Amino acid sequence: MFSSLLSLVSLITLVLALDLDPNSSQSVNSDSKLIAKGLLDYYAGSHYGGTIGMFVQPYYWWHAGAAWNTLVEYWAITGDDTYLDTTRQALISQRGEKYDLMVANFSTSEGNDDQGVWALTMMAAAERGFPEANDGHTWLDVAKNAFATMVGRWDLHCGGGVRWQIFSSNNGYDYKNSVSNGAVFSLAARLYYNTGEKVYLEWAETAWEWLWNSGLIEHDTYRVNDGLDVDDCSKITHFLWSYNAGMLQSGTAYLFAATGDNDWDTRARNFWSSGKNVFFDNKIMLEIACQQDSITCNNDQRTFKGIYANLLGLTAEVHPGLADEIIDYLTTSAKAAANTCSGGSDGHTCSLDWVSQKYDGNWIGLGEQISALSVILNSQALKVHAAPRAKQNQNSVPSDQADLAPAQSLFSSAAPSSSAAPSSSAAPSSSSAQDTRVSSAVIVSSSAKPTTLSTQVAVPAPTEPAQYTGDGSDVAAGLGLLALLGLGVILM
Ligand SMILES: *[C@@H]1O[C@H](CO)[C@@H](O)[C@H](O)[C@H]1NC(C)=O
Ligand SMILES: *[C@@H]1O[C@H](CO)[C@@H](O)[C@H](O)[C@H]1NC(C)=O
Repeated sequence: MFSSLLSLVSLITLVLALDLDPNSSQSVNSDSKLIAKGLLDYYAGSHYGGTIGMFVQPYYWWHAGAAWNTLVEYWAITGDDTYLDTTRQALISQRGEKYDLMVANFSTSEGNDDQGVWALTMMAAAERGFPEANDGHTWLDVAKNAFATMVGRWDLHCGGGVRWQIFSSNNGYDYKNSVSNGAVFSLAARLYYNTGEKVYLEWAETAWEWLWNSGLIEHDTYRVNDGLDVDDCSKITHFLWSYNAGMLQSGTAYLFAATGDNDWDTRARNFWSSGKNVFFDNKIMLEIACQQDSITCNNDQRTFKGIYANLLGLTAEVHPGLADEIIDYLTTSAKAAANTCSGGSDGHTCSLDWVSQKYDGNWIGLGEQISALSVILNSQALKVHAAPRAKQNQNSVPSDQADLAPAQSLFSSAAPSSSAAPSSSAAPSSSSAQDTRVSSAVIVSSSAKPTTLSTQVAVPAPTEPAQYTGDGSDVAAGLGLLALLGLGVILM
């Protein structure tokens, strides 16, 4: 009796696997809707006593940033406004008291990477025309404010860069990592693309110079290492995480779109040649550093593929030369991811390992829902556009951002910038999500020698961004799938 019941359950599970037809917006929309519903099951703000904008334990503030970014894309790509109010309320609630994504509740634990992930979410809301707050603080303004606080922490230990942690009392303050600096780079590129304000181009170039010269990017393979030790700048941590690659991939692509500069084109192409080799198996995305032989990914790492998929989708939108191949890889990955979404009590819980294309009943959680939803949505990236773009280029620094410009003096002295002194009032956070970001099995190499940055920040005149029109055509709905999904809803 029990075993026949079990086999009935597994039969149903098999029937309910989400068979995604990426050519059908109907199929994409229905699958996305089910997976989004599973994502929102983790939303604390909808539970009694839960905080608006936050997800249940053990998910941290930065996970929430990644989740809401995906729900902004969900709204933009499917046109479904089921979660519009929930998403908007969450974004509004987590902007921080000064609208710069420094949130008092996390004042002791927030890292540059956490703030960067949220700033990219605000950037997404700005680019997609997501309905603004009523109080005049636009998504773009919040992204700009966050960016200003981040680059305010740029110091000259190891020639430049921002640290992983904002507060000296936290583990990771002595570490300069690719995701924090990649977020500075990618944000600068997107801010420049969207506003034409030259200060962002200057910062993008400054961040690029440092990332390239610090040893964080391998010059022969364009692989992006995890980070370096501030106390020994040649001590590089060699883990390859997909979201790090995504930050560099998207930043270079946006800069090519905004400037037309061939160097950015070459770099964007090189990051894709690298990324498609490292993070895909037969065009199916995987988090190689924790998903190769057996799965060892932690709660942070289980979310990275979602961020990478989003940054690849954006790359496809702004870089026509890479669009077809990226969409091909995202589409194959999206179908594989959808095939894992057949578990849990709701019948559409997704799992981590897309290569197996099976629900594994084991690796499930907020990160898995974010990643599966993100890759499916971003396989449709060419149906939306990274707008609005600057109508005119502004070659002067706006007066309210004058102190944002990377100062010449920063590069003419080897002394650390004293303005980057961390707040001394911050208490260490023992349960900080950041503590788990770097695995204890640190691989160290002494081969990369950081070089001193040039004293000149070259600023070529920005040119009109290249226009790109994606293929917005929809293909007829998969009626059979709809019927199946209807069955799924009844069985729930
Ligand atoms: C989607 O359409 C493209 C172009 O028409 C075709 O090459 C591809 O095989 C289709 N994919 C699926 C999964 O049907
Ligand atoms: C900060 O935390 C408190 C207590 O958990 C909560 O009530 C409040 O809504 C939080 N504020 C934000 C902006 O999340």
